[in-house]
Amino acid sequence: MTLLAAHGMSAGYGPVPVVTDLDLHVGEGEIVALLGANGAGKSTTLMSLCGLLPPSSGTVEWLGQPVRSPLHRRARAGLRYVSEERSIVRGLSTLGNLQLGLGPIEEALELFPELRPLLKRSAGVLSGGQQQMLALACALAGEPRVLLVDELSLGLAP
Ligand SMILES: Nc1ncnc2c1ncn2[C@@H]1O[C@H](COP(=O)(O)OP(=O)(O)OP(=O)(O)O)[C@@H](O)[C@H]1O
Ligand SMILES: [Mg+2]
Repeated sequence: MTLLAAHGMSAGYGPVPVVTDLDLHVGEGEIVALLGANGAGKSTTLMSLCGLLPPSSGTVEWLGQPVRSPLHRRARAGLRYVSEERSIVRGLSTLGNLQLGLGPIEEALELFPELRPLLKRSAGVLSGGQQQMLALACALAGEPRVLLVDELSLGLAP
């Protein structure tokens, strides 16, 4: 089943076109990687797919229906987006961030055991890689149907 799709999607900023006529499908259990040079439009594509940047033409389909709803609505239906900037709340503790993830945190901690000793620490003082693990753990704690991650391995050791 296709969970997320773009059909002839174009997107950009005001008069500046960045993405033109994109077709893309993400099916259940599938991993889709988007590769491209700096400035190619990867982040713009993800922002349009998640609902942060309305496409200038074409459609995005979420769970088989064309959508124009904002990200927070799609999030309730199981879409998660981890942006290029680390998607955490710096002023909250590591645990506080995980509790915002809308789901059980135990599984996320099993995937990222490095976070366990850091639960009480303020997220803003975590290292870059630790913050990236936290951002991914928060997104996974919500048991998403689709997880969109911009720069998945940013700062992470292999
Ligand atoms: N808010 C904005 N306003 C105007 N132009 C923008 C804006 N954000 C991005 N752009 C332009 O859109 C183009 C695509 O940027 P985008 O961030 O999507 O690229 P990217 O593929 O994610 O690059 P990178 O690998 O460096 O992250 C770039 O030329 C960029 O300058
Ligand atoms: Mg980018």
